[in-house]
Amino acid sequence: MNKEQQAPIGVFDSGLGGLTVVAELRRQLPGEDVVYFGDTARVPYGTKSPETVRRFALEDATFLLRFNPKMIVVACNTASAAALDLLRDAMPVPVCGVVEPGAAEAVRQARESRARSGGGGIAVLATEATVNADAYPIAIRKIDPTIAITQCPCPLLVPLVEEGRTPDDAIVRMAMTEYLSPLLPLQPGAVLLGCTHYPLLKSAVEAVLGPSSPIVDSAQAAARAVVSTLADADLLCEPGRGGTLRCYVSDNPQRFAAVGSRFLGRPLRNVTWISPE
Ligand code: DGL
Repeated sequence: MNKEQQAPIGVFDSGLGGLTVVAELRRQLPGEDVVYFGDTARVPYGTKSPETVRRFALEDATFLLRFNPKMIVVACNTASAAALDLLRDAMPVPVCGVVEPGAAEAVRQARESRARSGGGGIAVLATEATVNADAYPIAIRKIDPTIAITQCPCPLLVPLVEEGRTPDDAIVRMAMTEYLSPLLPLQPGAVLLGCTHYPLLKSAVEAVLGPSSPIVDSAQAAARAVVSTLADADLLCEPGRGGTLRCYVSDNPQRFAAVGSRFLGRPLRNVTWISPE
């Protein structure tokens, strides 16, 4: 294994939601070392202006360069929507976001639904900033301009997940019904979870929309895109070794470790406080 193949994958998010992407990466690439930065001091990004999100994203990615990563993964949908082009220009390594892979998978699912039942566009559930950036519709239309797209901002869901609320929680159910009921008559052919936190509430989405609308998790799609980017560049590490995960956060490492273990699906150690500036 050469030095480039041994280098870690750098992943960043506005906070701990990006651990859903890390969980997928570790499932698909268990041998890779991952360095994660969560900007817990400045979360949420989803309610901030594009200029601010771009500035934060550039600082986050620049921080990860300290670890000489072989690639950088923008796990945050809001940062991917606002800053991916900027980061691709500014970083000396490949940069992969979650929007393009999530959009491609949603198109695939919507086409399958169309072939099966004849109808159904794509419903995009995301933060306000991601919806305002129009990043998912732009990425979807590049692949298939004929698909109908409905965007649905769900601002309450991030704080509910951060608070530890689960899909069967009464307030989660109420918020889901409020946000998703207008989508019912559209019978979407694919529902795209365009936010790091939403996979944790997947069953609550299913409870409102029913089984006929397949749910696309952009974290899973992004992890698959990372695998193919590394494979194409001959940067995959040797299979069979056990990869490590180191986490850095800009605030409250204890809370990150406690809540983050739910996102990761296992206990989280190795969390260090750091200032990205
Ligand atoms: N990580 C963000 C996203 O995927 C959600 C949390 C936030 O608003 O910062 O859009």
